[in-house]
Amino acid sequence: MKIAVGVDHGGFPLKDTVIDVLQSLGHSVLDLGTYSTESVDYPDFAAAVGRAVVSGEADRGIVICGSGVGACVAANKLHGVRACVCHDTYSAGQGVEHDDMNVLCLGARIIGPALATELVQAFVNATFQRDERFVRRLNKVLDLEEEGA
Ligand code: RB5
Repeated sequence: MKIAVGVDHGGFPLKDTVIDVLQSLGHSVLDLGTYSTESVDYPDFAAAVGRAVVSGEADRGIVICGSGVGACVAANKLHGVRACVCHDTYSAGQGVEHDDMNVLCLGARIIGPALATELVQAFVNATFQRDERFVRRLNKVLDLEEEGA
């Protein structure tokens, strides 16, 4: 898969780890910045990743800020993005399998590189399970998205 990765200054410390894991698993990375610890605004990077996913330029995205929260809130404002902060491996995989999560959000001030590695592995190794109940629930989420548009 092609994975878009975006971080703010708070997420920057985990960026190389995440990119290395993705590449070691054979995925290609669309690096959307930022490129240093200089202070920037997380919505800009959440938006860049979200737009890449929605447009199809990337298959999925990963956004990292200090907590993961701001990036998640911002990314979910985009039509077609299903982002969540997952700091446990069960959610990072099940979020894809049951909920078709397409953007993983991480907080570099909360977790370290070892857990980030496992979370990224769980996220990219999972695929949406097209069981009738999961598709039905996803369609209800998409209806909500239309209602709020
Ligand atoms: C940046 O200081 C910090 O607010 C940001 O990275 C993130 O944690 C927001 O949710």
